[in-house]
Order: sequence, then C-alpha cells, then structure tokens
Amino acid sequence: MKRILTIVGARPQFIKAAAISHTIRDNHSSEMQEDILHTGQHYDDAMSGQFFTELDIPLPRYNLGVGSGPHGKQTGLMMSGIEEILLQSQYDGVLVYGDTNSTLAGALAAAKLHVPVYHVEAGLRSFNRSMPEEINRVVADHVSTLLFAPTQTAVHNLRNEGLNSNDIVFSGDVMYDNVLHYSSIALQQTKPLRDSYILATLHRDFNTDNPDRLRHILSALKTIAEQLGTEIVFPMHPRTRKCIDSMMFEPLPKSIHVIEPLSYLETLAALQRCSLVLTDSGGLQKEANFCRKYCVVLRPETEWVELVEDGAAILADADEQKIVDAALRLMGQTPTANLHFGNGNAAETIVRHILES
Ligand code: UD1
Repeated sequence: MKRILTIVGARPQFIKAAAISHTIRDNHSSEMQEDILHTGQHYDDAMSGQFFTELDIPLPRYNLGVGSGPHGKQTGLMMSGIEEILLQSQYDGVLVYGDTNSTLAGALAAAKLHVPVYHVEAGLRSFNRSMPEEINRVVADHVSTLLFAPTQTAVHNLRNEGLNSNDIVFSGDVMYDNVLHYSSIALQQTKPLRDSYILATLHRDFNTDNPDRLRHILSALKTIAEQLGTEIVFPMHPRTRKCIDSMMFEPLPKSIHVIEPLSYLETLAALQRCSLVLTDSGGLQKEANFCRKYCVVLRPETEWVELVEDGAAILADADEQKIVDAALRLMGQTPTANLHFGNGNAAETIVRHILES
C-alpha cells in the first residue's frame, strides 16, 4: 500500500485534487491510501469549504490554518507545518498541484526530507519572473521526482531546462477530466445567472494591485457592456474586492453584476451558458476552451500558448482598446475544440505512474 500526502491550499488545487482523489478512491483503493493536507492559504467558505462539499473531496486530515500574509511568511509557515507532519508520519510521496505558495512549500519541505514529490501541472511557463506563480512552478519542478505535464509544450519546457526525460510524463490535464465528468451535472444542478452574459474574473496581483491596470480593465468592461448592450457577470475574488474598495473607483454600472466567488459547478455552468470569457485566470482560460467559448486574456502573456496559437484565446493585456475590440469580435462565436490537453484520462495516468514508480 502506497501512502500519499496530497498538499492543497488554494481554490484551483481543490478542483485538481478532486480528480485524483476520486480516481484513487474508485480504482486504486487497495494499492494507494491518500491523506489530504490543507495549508489554509484559502480559508473563506467561498474560496475553500464549498469545493470540498460540492466535489465530494475527503476532508483534510491536517489543516495548518496558515491564512493570508506576505509570501515569505506564508510560505515559511506552511513549510514548517508540512515538515512536522512529514517527520511524524511515513509517507511514500507528496502530491502537489500547480503553482501557488502551497505548491512551493509542499515541494520544498518534502524534497528536503527526501520524500518523493509528484508535481501535477508541471512545466508551465509564462517566462515572466515577476509573477510569484512563475517562481513557484520553476522551483517546484526542479525538486520534483515525477513531473506530470498537461501539454506537450510543458514537456518541451521541462526538457529545455535540462530535467530528466525519464521523470517527465505527458499526462494530459486533470481539469479536462473534470470538465468531461461534471459539465452536464453542472447544468442540471444550477440555474442560469442571467439570460445572456459575458463572464469576467480578475485576481492576479499585477492586475488588482496596480491602479492603472485595474482602471483600464474596469473601464473596458464598462465600454463592452455599453457598446454591446450585454450584461457582464463578475464573480469577485476577495483580493480584487479589497483593492477596488481601497482605490475608491467610481461605482460600476448596473449592467456589471458583481457577485461572490462561484462554486466549481456554478463556474462550469456559467462557462457553458455565457457568450464570452474575460479573465486573468489560468484555469478559466482552459475551461473556456473546453466549453467552446472564446477567452480574452487580461494578461500580456499566458502559459497556455496553444490556446493563443489556435486563436481560441486572445492576449489583450490591460489594454482597453484591445479588450473591447476582441470582445466585439468574438462574443457569441465558437472556437476550436480542445486539441492539446489529453483525452480526459489524466488522473488515471498520474495515479498509475505513481504506483509504478
Ligand atoms: C493564489 C495563488 C494564485 C492562484 C489563486 C487562485 C499564490 C502566490 N497565488 O492567489 O496562483 O491563481 O490563489 O485563487 O499562491 N483572501 C481572502 N479569503 C481567502 C483567501 C484570500 O479574503 O480565503 C484575500 C486576502 O486578502 C489575501 C488575498 O485574498 O491577502 C490574496 O490571497 P493569496 O492566497 O495570497 O493569493 P491569491 O490572490 O488568492
């Protein structure tokens, strides 16, 4: 029996971990036992608790309750808590996801104790080291034992950095597994948010903490709502809400509906029902494509370069004109289907490789 510790802390990690947890529970419970450690990076029910309930994820065995804080303090507190647990209990490996501070802390703490690290969503690169996520993913990849790359571009990035080809597995993307599994459930279990709308989200620090970028993006949303006569649904991350409040911008027009962060199923239903996605989220860019919606990316670059090459995602940065032009051109249109993120079997591939390692 292989004992695995799954380390999660932030919203997108709960969603990714659900795919693997279900695969272990349903197909491999005689060979693998999983415990979950929640760092506490996200703690509001809307950002954390509701995902465990809705996605039927086993409750965390450990919760470090670290909460928000500056990067060094937050990551340091997590590392110290994870180290203590790894020293107390014998785990055969640690599973980490994506690129958050929880990923970095889990990977570093385990690697220093010579516990194998399995990194899901390895090899993504924006090549922009001013993003905390880029630092987290580069470091996590370089201390990992097995690197599960969701795309061939990610495989290529890892090889380019000199990582051992034997440790790199093209697994496909667990988020695609989830979309295939949950899409119709999401539509059945939710009501439409409005008759027709554009879905917008924003949470990256370089957008929320920079008054100029934030102002340009909000102004683009207003112009789109006015020029297209469409409503915009804007589920707001707590960081974004705090920044908008503190910068005391003019109130948003009524056609922009600011709501609480959505659950996973609500998000998936909203993606299927909307006419366009505007976002700086990494996960939502892919999910938009899996749901056959165009995505206007509110960043200068993206890790998901395939989507841009296919024309399914448009890099509009915080450039008001580019955002508005892309929205006017693409609203209600249908991009190409998923070509790059595997066949919906990523979680099974990952669990098998861990068992065989
Ligand atoms: C983190 C990840 C980011 C990921 C995102 C998903 C890092 C460096 N960033 O960003 O990669 O895309 O999660 O959402 O790990 N807050 C609350 N309640 C919560 C959580 C956060 O109010 O439950 C507020 C706090 O003011 C906090 C701020 O949001 O300071 C930022 O939270 P933090 O976890 O530092 O980063 P995210 O922006 O969520």
